[in-house]
Amino acid sequence: MFYEPKKKNHGLPKNPFNSLIVPRPIGWISSVDESGIHNLAPYSFFNAVSYSPPTVMFSGGVGSASDGLKDSIRNIEATGEFVCNLATWDTREQMNKSSQTLPPESDEIVLSGLTAIPSKIVNAPRIKEAPVHLECRYLKSVDIPGWTEADAYRVIFGEVVGIHIKDEFITEEGLVDVIKMLAIGRLGYNDYTRVDSESIFSMNRP
Ligand SMILES: Cc1cc2nc3c(=O)[nH]c(=O)nc-3n(C[C@H](O)[C@H](O)[C@H](O)COP(=O)(O)O)c2cc1C
Repeated sequence: MFYEPKKKNHGLPKNPFNSLIVPRPIGWISSVDESGIHNLAPYSFFNAVSYSPPTVMFSGGVGSASDGLKDSIRNIEATGEFVCNLATWDTREQMNKSSQTLPPESDEIVLSGLTAIPSKIVNAPRIKEAPVHLECRYLKSVDIPGWTEADAYRVIFGEVVGIHIKDEFITEEGLVDVIKMLAIGRLGYNDYTRVDSESIFSMNRP
C-alpha cells in the first residue's frame, strides 16, 4: 500500500504512522515549575542525538489537538532543566498513569505513586523507582509546524550533564545490565515492547 499522510488516504481504521517507527524509547521526563511543583510525563517522540556532549531530545504537542502547551515543555523552557528517567517493566503502570492530562498544579510523581528524589546538578527531581536518570540542561527548542496550529509540535533538546545508574544494574564485567533493567519501548496503538533475554541479540560490525 502507499498513502500520503496529508491526504489521510491510508484507508485503515487507525493512523499507522506510530506503528512504523518502532520500538520507540520512552523519555520519562521529570521537571519542576518556577514555584517548585514537580511534573512527570512520558514522551515516546524521544531519543539520544549525540555522544559528546551526550544530548537528548523529546517532542511534545503544543497545539489544541494535544491540550495546548505541555507542562513539561513550559517548565523546561522556564527553568532550563529536566531529568529523563528510564521507564521499565516494573514501573509500566506508573509510567502510564503519569501521562494523564492534569492541571499544572498537579504533581504526577505523587499521583502516580512514585517517589521524587533530588538530583545532583539540576533542580528537577529524579524518580527513585527508575534504574537510570539523565540530568539534563535545556539547550534549545525547535518548532515543528503542524498542518494547522492545532497539530504543532515543539522539540526540546537537552545536554546530559549528570548520569545516575543504580549499582545493581552494572554487571561484574562493568557493563550495563540492560536485561535486568527490563526497559520498555513504545509500539503503535496501545502496544509496548520489553527488552529482555528473549529479545536481545548481538552482531559485530563488519
Ligand atoms: C507511552 C507514552 C508516550 C507518549 N509520548 C508522547 C510524545 O512523544 N509527545 C507528546 O506530546 N505526548 C506524548 N504522550 C502523552 C503525554 O504523556 C501526555 O500528554 C502528558 O499529559 C503530558 O504531560 P505534561 O503536560 O505534564 O508534560 C505519551 C503518552 C504515553 C503513555
